[in-house]
Amino acid sequence: MNRVVVGAQWGDEGKAKITDLLANDADLIIRYQGGCNAGHTVVVDDKVFKFHLIPSGILYKGKTCLIGAGTVILPETFEKEVQGLIAEGIDVSGLKVSPLASITMPYHTEVDGYSENTATKGKIGTTKKGIGPTYTDKMARIGLKIEDLYNPETLSEKLDVILPLKNKTLEKVYGLEPYSKECVTALCEKYAEIFKPYVCFEWQELLEKHKRDKSVVLFEGAQGVMLDVDYGTYPFVTSSNPIAGGACTGSGYGPKMIDEVIGVAKAYVTRVGEGPFVTELNDEVGEKIRNIGHEFGTTTGRPRRTGWFDVVTMKYAVLVGGLTSVALTKIDVFDDFDEIKICTAYKDTRDGKIYKSYPTNVFMHKYLEPVYETHTGWKTNLTGVKKYSDLPQNAKNYLSRLEELLEVPISIVSVGPNRDQTIFKEA
Ligand code: GDP
Ligand code: IMO
Ligand code: MG
Repeated sequence: MNRVVVGAQWGDEGKAKITDLLANDADLIIRYQGGCNAGHTVVVDDKVFKFHLIPSGILYKGKTCLIGAGTVILPETFEKEVQGLIAEGIDVSGLKVSPLASITMPYHTEVDGYSENTATKGKIGTTKKGIGPTYTDKMARIGLKIEDLYNPETLSEKLDVILPLKNKTLEKVYGLEPYSKECVTALCEKYAEIFKPYVCFEWQELLEKHKRDKSVVLFEGAQGVMLDVDYGTYPFVTSSNPIAGGACTGSGYGPKMIDEVIGVAKAYVTRVGEGPFVTELNDEVGEKIRNIGHEFGTTTGRPRRTGWFDVVTMKYAVLVGGLTSVALTKIDVFDDFDEIKICTAYKDTRDGKIYKSYPTNVFMHKYLEPVYETHTGWKTNLTGVKKYSDLPQNAKNYLSRLEELLEVPISIVSVGPNRDQTIFKEA
């Protein structure tokens, strides 16, 4: 069973926990998009591991973990992350990097930081990791790929095209310092050393072999459907495709290699950065969710915005994300809540119009308010529950109602950050 793990909201849904769990049965784990904007937390026996680039399957011995062609890689972060794992005694011999992955150069990070720091209007609230500028250059066909690092002739030829353009933009548009060819070449020599033990020039054979052997492949997404560059709350999105479709372009496997798409969603919603958020709670309930759920960014430490579960965006995520089932995480955060709300529709405050389908013009979302239904809380500590049948009736009612609204099964329920705090629901 080949699976894709997709974030179904605005990121930080607990994808890494689910990927880590499912990686136990997988042979090959492929991270297919994004870069070190991701912050993925895995907790094993109360020990916390944080990943930005490396697939969350790395904690198991003997698995192949590929950072796919659709990703963008900041070399220094990659190096730091690898060294951190080695220092913890984790075996990284299965780690591989696609030679087609894009490199985030220092000028990408500088431009991202500049744009975010100087924007007065239209600020995105990015992670300032150079993600947007790296993907921009990739699409503009002036990016560098990992494989370029190992071919001085190609690198030199590419830099002769890239640098005059890049420097003009850096200086004239951003007022930043230009980069000399010598400087960039020296940086690339350093990067070549960093990636050398991991770059997988034989990636085609690797993918062929796993396909032929009918290995179990797990595709790991970063971010979430609502941050997808094509389907998310554009322009308040990231610059890649977290949806299941992105697993194909970002890995090198076609859609027929995918059997199941698991959408990971929290029992509530969070968002970091700017952009619309119809069910956002700017009150003590939102604060309570943030504190109990420890909703502070793994990558940037920013407090996450919080709100009630939103069926309108989630149904949209089921459709465009290609979800076949849902892993619902952090339901334990509601253990102490008297009541729990679910947003089932949006109401336009101008004319009372009700939206059950997601309205894609996000600039109009300021006129929308959530329509809620209210459920009675279970007021029980769920963090030790191992079986679905042992859940309190109010929790079962809540989960059944969500399944009914979403029209996809909730196959996994997560009641804590550890591996064993997971309920696999029998079909
Ligand atoms: P990701 O980016 O989707 O992998 O998610 P993050 O790692 O950024 O954020 C999810 C956070 O919630 C992490 O700190 C996890 O350890 C934690 N977590 C995951 N599942 C659960 C759960 O069911 N309950 C609780 N309380 N915490 C969880
Ligand atoms: P994981 O994989 C939550 C958000 C940023 C910003 C927008 C664009 O941990 O779920 P970018 O730096 O990508 O150009 O920022 O996307 N963002 C995330 N939010 N989780 C993430 O990753 C995110 N990666 C980017 O906050 O709003
Ligand atoms: Mg995260």
